[in-house]
Amino acid sequence: MKFFLDTASLKDIAYWQTMGLVDGVTTNPVILAKAGVDPYARLKDILSLGDFPVSAQLTATDKDGMLAQATRFASLGQNIVIKVPACPLGFSVASALKSEGVRVSITLVFTPSQALPFLRVHVDYVSLFVAVTEDAGLQQDHSMTTLRTAIDAMGSKTQLICCSIRTPDHLWRAVCANPHVITVPPSCWEDTFRNPLFATWSQRFLAQWSDMPQDLRAAYDGEE
Ligand code: E4P
Repeated sequence: MKFFLDTASLKDIAYWQTMGLVDGVTTNPVILAKAGVDPYARLKDILSLGDFPVSAQLTATDKDGMLAQATRFASLGQNIVIKVPACPLGFSVASALKSEGVRVSITLVFTPSQALPFLRVHVDYVSLFVAVTEDAGLQQDHSMTTLRTAIDAMGSKTQLICCSIRTPDHLWRAVCANPHVITVPPSCWEDTFRNPLFATWSQRFLAQWSDMPQDLRAAYDGEE
């Protein structure tokens, strides 16, 4: 299982790389807009950070425009992955790009059925949205697990990315579904390591430790 970072922040990518949690980077128009800089320049910056896959979503809305934008993005580096929407137009664009050897990730997948035609043409990734779908009142545990099962059963070369992961609970439920990839925003990793019980108990251990006479714990503390 691989973990991608769902961000366009160079600082966050650099930090979470130190934790070994950046096997790739995913972006989308909202994520790039949040960076507050020229998105095309930022995309090039992220691509230059390593040979890991970096996805960039098409913003063109017609087939010719999408293919032209994808061709421009594809020239930026061999690790670029073009994000295409999970709809009939997206299928036509994805099929054309795959025939040209361009790596493709199908995004805006909210139900496993949306992914089916794309699995048959072996796109590189399908991105199943978790939080967004659950905001709409649907549970995604079954979808995550069964989509992975279907990919294996169909002998598809497509990898499942679980995305729209916003909480440690989303993260762990995605892990339990055994996707190929989970793309995690930095905020979710921060929350994972900042859980309230950790803060309480790490302070409690040290408080009780310091209640011990200093000379008694000196050897343990290396303060002899
Ligand atoms: C993948 O990169 C998706 O675009 C992203 O995970 C969506 O996350 P959100 O639902 O928090 O916007």
